[in-house]
Amino acid sequence: MAKRKAMQDVCLNCHQQAFVDGHYFQYDAMVKLYNEKTDKLFADDPMHKWFNTNTADIKSAIKSGEFQKIYSELFKQDVK
Ligand code: HEC
Repeated sequence: MAKRKAMQDVCLNCHQQAFVDGHYFQYDAMVKLYNEKTDKLFADDPMHKWFNTNTADIKSAIKSGEFQKIYSELFKQDVK
């Protein structure tokens, strides 16, 4: 928090307190939103789950064909 205060002091040379507070409020909300979005992706999305998987497990999934199955399912379209 000390570093944040130092950075805000720089902003305050030109902007008013309410503007700086507002900016940091929005900035924190954005960080929170993206943290939640990426957590969800890594937990739920089959393509992103692999980012948290060690290389040996990915290799064995490729050899067994399990890995390819995820990708073949991802782009399936219902063409009518
Ligand atoms: C040297 C003066 C100066 C400092 C220091 C400064 N700003 Fe600014 N800032 C400005 C000016 C001037 C504008 C308006 C630019 C324009 O109209 O295009 C601006 C615009 C902005 C805008 C865009 C506002 C809008 O309506 O689009 C944001 C956000 C902003 N500053 C945030 C910050 C933050 C956060 C800091 C500190 C980390 C900071 N500024 C430090 C001078 C400064």
